[in-house]
Formats: sequence, C-alpha cells, structure tokens
Amino acid sequence: MPGAVVTGWGIAVPDKVVTNEDLSARLDTSDQWIAERTGIRERRIGGTTAELAIGAGRAALARAGRTGDDVDVLVLATSTPDALVPGTSATVQEGLGVRGGAFDVNAACSGFVYALVVAHGLVLAGAKRVLVIGSETLSQITDWDDRSIAVLVGDGAGAVLLEATDGPGQLLAWDLGADGSLRHLLKCDHGGYLYMNGKEIFRHAVRVIVESSQKALAKAGLQTSDVDLFIPHQANARIITAASQRLGIPDDRCVVTIDRYGNTSSASIPLALADALETDRIRPGALVLLSGFGGGMTWASAVLRWGG
Ligand code: ACO
Repeated sequence: MPGAVVTGWGIAVPDKVVTNEDLSARLDTSDQWIAERTGIRERRIGGTTAELAIGAGRAALARAGRTGDDVDVLVLATSTPDALVPGTSATVQEGLGVRGGAFDVNAACSGFVYALVVAHGLVLAGAKRVLVIGSETLSQITDWDDRSIAVLVGDGAGAVLLEATDGPGQLLAWDLGADGSLRHLLKCDHGGYLYMNGKEIFRHAVRVIVESSQKALAKAGLQTSDVDLFIPHQANARIITAASQRLGIPDDRCVVTIDRYGNTSSASIPLALADALETDRIRPGALVLLSGFGGGMTWASAVLRWGG
C-alpha cells in the first residue's frame, strides 16, 4: 500500500503584531495576567483565511519544488471560512492554481490533524500529492471588547505537501475523536462572536490530549518514552504543560509557539511543526506526535516517523 511523506512545508502570518501591552491599553487586562495564565506574549492579526492559506500553501509547494499543477487534492482545515458558501478552499485552489479537487474541513482546533489523516487516506486511494493547509482568522469572530477571548486568539496559516511513496510512509497511527454533547463549551453562531467556557475546556482538553495521544501511540505499538517531539495544539501553555507532564514527555521534547502566535486554532499545529523543522528539531527517523483538541469537542492525534 502506498504511504505518504511530507515533502514541503510553509507558513504565512500577518505582518501586524499585537502585543499584550497593546491589548492592555484598551482592555482591563495586563501583560502579567495574559502571560501567566496563557503563555501568550503576542499574536499576529490580519488578512483573510484564503490569503493566509495561499501564502502558506505557496511556501510549502516552493519548498517541495512543486506547483499547484502537481496537486491532486487540496484539503483546507478552517473554522473561520471567509464565506459560508463556497468553501474557502475554492479561493485557495484558484490562488495556487491547484489542478485537482479542493474542499474544507471544519473540526475546530483539531482540524489540521483531521485533514492530515484524511489526506493520508486520499493517498491510499490513489492521490499522488495532497496539499494540507490549516488557516484561520479567529480575529474575525472575536469580540475585541471581551477580555476573556480577545487576549487568546491570533491569525495565521501553516501547510504541508504530502506525496505518495512506495514505502510505508510517515504516518504510523492516528486517533480521531468527538463528543458532541460538549459542543456548547465552544461555539460561534451565524453572525456572532466566539464564546467559550474556558475552565471546562481546560479540564477536558488535558484529558483528551492525554487519552488520544496514548491511544495513537498504542496503535503504533509505541510508548510516550519513544516520542522525540510532541507538537500539541497551542491553546494555553498551562494546558500543554499539564498534558506533557501527564504523558511523561519532558519540556525539551515539546514544541511551544503560543508565546508568539496565540491560539490560531487549526493553524497552530502546522505553525508549530514548521517552527520545529526550521529550527532543526526534527531529524530523519524522529518520532513526532501531533495532538489537537477543540470545539465540538473534537480531538485528533497522529504519530509520524519522520523521513518515511
Ligand atoms: N485579563 C485579566 N483578568 C481576566 C482576563 C483577562 N484577559 N480574563 C479573565 N480574567 C479574570 C476573570 O474575570 C476572573 O476574575 P474573578 O476571579 O474576579 O472572577 C479571573 O481572571 C480568573 O478567570 P478564570 O476564567 O478563572 O481564569 P483561568 O485561569 O481559567 O484562565 C483561560 C482563563 C486562560 C481562558 C483558561 O481557562 C483557558 O485557557 N481555557 C482553555 C481555553 C482553550 O483551550 N480554548 C480552546 C480553544 S479556543 C478556540 O478554539 C478559539
């Protein structure tokens, strides 16, 4: 059976940096509160979901030495589409000149890992190259007068190009889950603003990251001690610390980028993955664990052996 390997990756973030001090100037909050409670120092704000996705997709294709014409399917993970219809992937398809099909996936902050697993399935079904992008503009659905949400979110996009290979490929195992009875904890109605019950999300988040990561590793016949790099969804540094401690993964094997980008929902894992690759933290043969959670609630983990 054909497997898939990542041959290119890229990111796009808005130029505009909004620091905790900038928010403190207009909201009843402080750099100290935000940094201590969330780990966030600054975030990027601006652009549309399609513009950011095109930027990240273009960078991933360039790194792989490919063009849109080489792509069989584009899968765009987003929970902040630019319009209800058509899917934002339609704009991205045109912008990148993707030859094949294009569709959106919405699994909130778990979206990128869901899309990555779907993309591996497409390769198994015969696709040669699948471009997977996580792109978000949470700023568009944020009430900037609500300090409980405004300090958390950021905009950005990250992308990977998956290519079919004759060998077994990088994906060793995955776990996807959902519990719709918790959908009231994080939501945004048509035309409304993002709402979340932070405390409850926090509690469930740590549990589902740990359980889902353990399930995916067990399916691959591996343990947390085998993990070279843990790349969790970046929603709150305290969630990341609590989950890695419970998993027994030391800090130096965990990627944290929330200080620079805030919570970028489905863009957070590909942004962190790209950061790890750019800083040489992922070498051929490394075991990489991705784990996301988000509205729904949904959760998703993937175990990858880098190099393929
Ligand atoms: N600045 C200053 N004070 C604040 C702020 C702020 N920005 N926000 C809340 N507070 C106050 C509260 O009013 C409260 O005051 P009180 O004690 O007088 O009532 C106090 O700080 C404590 O508030 P809590 O909500 O208890 O703070 P907590 O430690 O739970 O942290 C947070 C809140 C950061 C939201 C945390 O619960 C969290 O990160 N939850 C998970 C978020 C998450 O993972 N979301 C999922 C994805 S989000 C998405 O997809 C877009």
